[in-house]
Amino acid sequence: MKETGLWINGNWRVANETYDLKAPYDGKLIAKVAKGTADDVKVAIAGAEEAFHSFKKSTAYDRAEILYKVVNIMRERKEELSKMLAQEAGKPLKTARAEVDRTIATYQFSAEEAKQYRGETIPMDAAPGGANRIGWTKKEAIGVVSAITPFNFPFNLVAHKLGPAFAVGNTVVLKPATQTPLSALVMAEIFKEAGLPDGVLQIVTGSGSELSDSLITHPNVKKVTFTGSVPVGLSIKEKVGLRKITLELGSNSALIVEPSVPIEKIVKRCVEGAFGFAGQVCISLQRIYVNRQVHDEFVQAFVEETKKLIVGDPLDEKTDVGSMIHPDEVERIVSWIEEAKSHGAMVATGGEFTERQLQPTVMINVKEDMQVVCEEVFAPIVSIIPYDTLDEAIGYVNDSKFGLNAAIYTNILTDAMRAADEIEAGAVIINDIPTFRTDHMPYGGVKMSGYGREGVKFAVDEMTEIKFITMKTVF
Ligand code: SIN
Repeated sequence: MKETGLWINGNWRVANETYDLKAPYDGKLIAKVAKGTADDVKVAIAGAEEAFHSFKKSTAYDRAEILYKVVNIMRERKEELSKMLAQEAGKPLKTARAEVDRTIATYQFSAEEAKQYRGETIPMDAAPGGANRIGWTKKEAIGVVSAITPFNFPFNLVAHKLGPAFAVGNTVVLKPATQTPLSALVMAEIFKEAGLPDGVLQIVTGSGSELSDSLITHPNVKKVTFTGSVPVGLSIKEKVGLRKITLELGSNSALIVEPSVPIEKIVKRCVEGAFGFAGQVCISLQRIYVNRQVHDEFVQAFVEETKKLIVGDPLDEKTDVGSMIHPDEVERIVSWIEEAKSHGAMVATGGEFTERQLQPTVMINVKEDMQVVCEEVFAPIVSIIPYDTLDEAIGYVNDSKFGLNAAIYTNILTDAMRAADEIEAGAVIINDIPTFRTDHMPYGGVKMSGYGREGVKFAVDEMTEIKFITMKTVF
């Protein structure tokens, strides 16, 4: 039985207590994981602060080399890392492999960004009194970053915090999700092998508000970056004071399907968007608004395609949909389906469940105020809703407290551009699902979906401070 430690100053530190890590699919004990305390966090932050003094002076070339080495090691260990991820997150192996590929890309973008991020020159003589002066900005590393990451992309959402931070010379104290610490802890080994100096990456596993509060309120922490739920995000925002902060929170992502597109060409992709990683993705496709002219045809094709999905053991090559992260989640979502049904909604397919898995579920006849529509479901459930005009559809999409990614399928350019202008979201995806994401595009939301942006270059902006320098060229 594997027993893990905390990763502090380049070594494993034994914790006084551990917790049992169980596989979401079958409840099998996978590891005993160190339960960090607020005191461990203090030690981790002190080490990260110490390491920052020299790491901020390292060259961009050296930081890029470390990140490129991480890319190479991950490529070599891809299969082992994918299996670890499939087991601890309940993520189907083929989806886990895709996540490891994306993680490699994120570190590669970070290596490239280390060599590219830069300030700008300011035309000082554009202002009265500015003659004979030059001015420029530089982006400086800020210090210790506290990163709190979720269970759903345990490699790649960690990479979105570590990669940009290390690219510019920051140090990080990472608290990975309680359910998926192994994917984070293995990165400690990989970064060490790649030559990252001790103390630059500290990892404290565990849970509880005392632990999290000590991470976000310590005076030496200069930035907090969090991906997770809205209530936790809001409480972090209240506590961070003047520290920089990035919050990547939830969504009930929507897609508009206009009648100008061939349904048979988009249905498979929509099914992938709704049920990938059992819908436990912030930009999972949850609401599909389909023009009434093609609504019935779309529902029929969508249901047929959904029935082809194989629900099962994440480690089985054939599995498309794995487990919910915890049995409580199955219970929650079944109660949401029941609530919708009691108010007239119908299950077009799915709805059956076991202790740990829910069959991919398609709901019709739903209303905008049902939880399966207006809350973030974070489960393999999608609602298909008819509309008559594009205005009405855009209104439905915007009638949400969230605004992360939204999407429209249309063949009419002016409609696409109107949707892009009028939809309230961090990103509008035209002719693909809202679940589309590459790791260098800006990613983040409006409204309750978050604050700030990730995507390597954009995260770098949020993890550096602009310093302005000006010089008089004539005495
Ligand atoms: C998320 O669930 O926040 C991340 C989605 C992704 O990276 O594809």
